[in-house]
Order: sequence, then structure tokens, then C-alpha cells
Amino acid sequence: MNTKFETIQLEQKGDFAVLTISREKSLNALNLQVHTELHACLSTLKNNADKLRGLILTGAGEKAFIAGADIVEMSKMSSQEAFDFATLGQQVSLLFEELPFPVIACVNGFALGGGCEMAMSCDFIYATQTAMFGQPEVKLGLIPGFGGTQRLAKLIGRNKAKELIFTGRNIKVEEAKEMGLVVKTFETKDEMLAAAVTTLTKIGMNSPLAVSVAKRVMNEGCDLTIEDGLKVEAKYFGEIFGTADMIEGTTAFLEKRKANFNN
Ligand code: CAA
Repeated sequence: MNTKFETIQLEQKGDFAVLTISREKSLNALNLQVHTELHACLSTLKNNADKLRGLILTGAGEKAFIAGADIVEMSKMSSQEAFDFATLGQQVSLLFEELPFPVIACVNGFALGGGCEMAMSCDFIYATQTAMFGQPEVKLGLIPGFGGTQRLAKLIGRNKAKELIFTGRNIKVEEAKEMGLVVKTFETKDEMLAAAVTTLTKIGMNSPLAVSVAKRVMNEGCDLTIEDGLKVEAKYFGEIFGTADMIEGTTAFLEKRKANFNN
């Protein structure tokens, strides 16, 4: 796996990897280079998915996860360049969703604009007590461009999302948790990263195939009507029958032993 990037770091730890956005001086703001490197990195992970069982996304340092898209770079963009920038950022966000293993966003400090958007494209969000979320784009005369208008509404409900996006106000971690944006909070970044590894380890003991199919069905289904979503669920439920993981899981139960999903 190519791990040589300038603005991001990919560190593999056994079955898991930690992906860190590393532009600490700019509070890990997302510029074209970060997106290009993220796109390359996530595409490689997707194509070598058998080597990993989980990914953690975080930001370098203590102050910020990601303080948004790079305002310095954006201030010079033409309309076409901005469209291309948003499209690339959206492709990156989709790649997080398409990875066939769980991705946990570990939010330390500011997760604003594009930072909140990248966190939301992960499977769930852990955060430190200092985390701060928001979509402040309208304060800059912009709108969210990496999926915020869509994913925030899906996650917390359209009206709450509108209130946040129209006011551009930042919210502290307690409010983010109350809204369902954040799943768990932690005192320190180290504690949060350790908990994310524990969670991924726990998930990794289950059938990797079943976890990956559950992720896919949930991502695909949430955009559909309940009837169509249930059809997708039944389709994959049927397809998973007869797989090595299904046979091992059910046989282990019947033999009163722990399943060993060693593929
Ligand atoms: N882009 C570029 N540089 C940024 C940045 C960003 N989004 N956020 C922070 N920085 C830079 C600052 O310019 C500063 O650089 P210098 O030291 O060279 O001046 C450095 O990071 C440290 O930031 P501050 O001095 O501002 O730190 P602070 O503690 O006073 O404030 C903050 C922190 C509240 C996060 C503030 O930096 C801030 O408001 N940042 C912008 C947040 C924002 O508006 N994000 C949304 C961007 S738009 C977007 O994301 C669009 C989209 O959806 C695609």
C-alpha cells in the first residue's frame, strides 16, 4: 500500500489503519492536494480491502480535526474550479462510504464545514470534550459543498440541519451528541483513539463479510422508500446464505463454540 503522502498520513496497525489529515498549521484545512491524496489513498484501500478490517480518520494535533475547506485556496477559485473542488470532495466522501469495512471519525477539536462533512461520511463519530461541530459556510457567502446539505439532514433531520446551516453556528460536543451526530465522547484524544481501536477490534471478531454487507445495505437503503429499502435488505440477506462466514457463524453457534472468521 502506498503510504507516502505529504498532507495525509496512513499508518497501518495490524488489521486497522489510522488516516490522519496533517496540515496542522492550517488546522488541517482541506485543499486540493489533501483531496487528491485522500482520493488516491482511499481508492487503494478500497482495492486492497482484504488487508484491513477498519479505519480511523482523525486530524493532526489537538486543536482541530479539520477546520473546513481551505478558505485561502477557495478565495481564488473560479466557479468551474469550485465545482470541480466540490465534486472531488464529494467523491472522497463517497469513498469513505464505499470502503467495505467500518470507518470511525475521531474528532479532536474543530470539525467545521468540510471537516464536519468528512466526519459525517464516516460510519460513526467519536469526539473529545473539546470537539466543536458546525457548517459555517453561509458566514463566508458559501454553502456546504462536500455533502453537508444532504448528509446532515439525513443524520439529524432536515429542520435541525436547516437551523444549523442557516445560522452557521458552531455546536459543542454535548449538543452534537444530543442531536445524534456524535456517538461517544472522551476526555482526551488518546483515550478516544484507544476506544476506536477497541471498537474496531470488537467489530473485527464478527464476520467481516456480514459487517461489510450490513454497511452497504444501510448506506444504500437510507436513500430509498421503506419498501425499496426492505427489498435491498432481503436481497443481501439471501445472498449471504451459503457463504463461508455464514456457515462458520451458524455452525459455531450449533457446536457451542466461538466462531472463527479467518478469511
Ligand atoms: N482554511 C484555511 N486556513 C484556515 C482555516 C480554513 N478553513 N481554518 C483555519 N485556518 C488557518 C488560519 O488562517 C490560521 O492561519 P495563520 O496562522 O496563517 O493565520 C491558522 O489556521 C490558525 O487559525 P486561527 O488563528 O483562526 O485559530 P483560532 O483558534 O483563532 O480559530 C477557528 C479557529 C474558529 C477554527 C477559525 O480558524 C475559523 O473560523 N476557521 C474557519 C472555519 C470555517 O469557516 N470553515 C468552513 C470553511 S468553508 C467549507 O468548508 C466549504 C465546504 O463545505 C466545501
